[in-house]
Amino acid sequence: SEASIKRGLWSSRMAFVLAATGSAVGLGNIWKFPYITGENGGGAFVLVYLVCIAAVGLPIMMAEILIGRSGAASPLRSMRLLIEQGGHHPAWRFTAVIGMLAAFLILSFYSVIGGWAVSYIGTAATGELVGKSAEAVGEIFSGLLGSPWLLLGWHTLFMALVMFVVGRGLRGGLERAVTILMPALFVLLLIVVGYAMTTGHFGEGVAFLFQPDFSRLTTAGVLVALGHAFFTLSLGMAVMMAYGSYLSRNVSIAKTSIVVSVMDTGVALLAGLAIFPIVFANGLEPGAGPGLIFQTLPLAFGQMPWGSLIGTLFFVLLTFAAWTSAISLLEPVVEWLEEKKGMSRTRSTVGAGVSCWLLGIASILSLNVWSDVTPLGMFSMFEGKTIFDLLDFVTASIMLPLAGLLVALFAGWVMTRETLQKELAMSSGSFSLWYGVIRYVTPIAVAVVFIYNLF
Ligand code: PHE
Ligand code: NA
Repeated sequence: SEASIKRGLWSSRMAFVLAATGSAVGLGNIWKFPYITGENGGGAFVLVYLVCIAAVGLPIMMAEILIGRSGAASPLRSMRLLIEQGGHHPAWRFTAVIGMLAAFLILSFYSVIGGWAVSYIGTAATGELVGKSAEAVGEIFSGLLGSPWLLLGWHTLFMALVMFVVGRGLRGGLERAVTILMPALFVLLLIVVGYAMTTGHFGEGVAFLFQPDFSRLTTAGVLVALGHAFFTLSLGMAVMMAYGSYLSRNVSIAKTSIVVSVMDTGVALLAGLAIFPIVFANGLEPGAGPGLIFQTLPLAFGQMPWGSLIGTLFFVLLTFAAWTSAISLLEPVVEWLEEKKGMSRTRSTVGAGVSCWLLGIASILSLNVWSDVTPLGMFSMFEGKTIFDLLDFVTASIMLPLAGLLVALFAGWVMTRETLQKELAMSSGSFSLWYGVIRYVTPIAVAVVFIYNLF
């Protein structure tokens, strides 16, 4: 029941891993990772991204789970408790506030992309992709982007699915489904990788992903890699904090965080291995942008045996992965409305969901009618960015690293060493390593990347 989910602990470490993986694995892995890798020149970007996952993402995931578990309440309340107990400055609470605001902004466009995934279930199922050329597949995609009403329909459907689950507190059931659906998604990705091997351009794809060419990496690219490490691991948004509050004391935070990070990274790399050989085999542009997977994967589904079936299943699973992530984006905002404003679950869900949905319309229009509108274009940092690009950039590249920085500072410099040691319960060597990273490496890395890009 809702009560046992809320007040009890996860029935097992497995339940926590599933929920956290459900949140982590999503459009970030399959849609975003390949396209930003393509835009940022491949190997060197991937290497920086992997370093960011290990040196920044993983330690912060541990810190977030730790804060949630030691506060044992909603993120905002956990932070407040820890702040009050330690007699710290109340402004630290803003860490959770920035996170929630970011979650709200992200969900607005995440739902639009989730809608693309839903629409491709039908595109694959009707056999429309069979034998299509790269050009024809590109036209299907631009047809979708060029039609605000279609996009609105799919965005509405996706957001409704998310609100339905959050409003009824059904997360538990959905998370159990992750047990079957995540491995299935993994297998389907492997099948597409298998197809990619037959294109004769697999080596080229592998080289693009794993052969670092630092001349193609920009400082802006480093910021994108850092921001994506937060985005893909669901960090900086109070999500892992919320999940951590249900985690039982005898579970190792470090081991669990490693499992989640490795699975998330595995899915992203597999998606890259599936997509780039198809890009090169068809003379497509790796830097094609947000449409990359919708211009490449359909080609594979149109050519491989059983392609319509496999493609349909793939987009169903992608939708599902996006759905579980989107739910975890809406959940903290809804909990905050319930707790802070005393609103009922239904009202909170409708209030937050409908506002997000409305904001999503701006992203939809920026893909067509407003494609030339660049509201902050006068600042060099935001040059050429549409509303959709801005929402993505401001959340992933500014708000999340900032919230992550605050989490690192709070855990590393505000909480006591004893509390941290007790929560993490690691060997003293591993603890010292984490402590050094969270106190120095993470904050300095985030600060340096920020300063380079903003000034
Ligand atoms: N991690 C999710 C993804 O990669 C996105 C997400 C971010 C979900 C933050 C929840 C919170 O798609
Ligand atoms: Na992810």
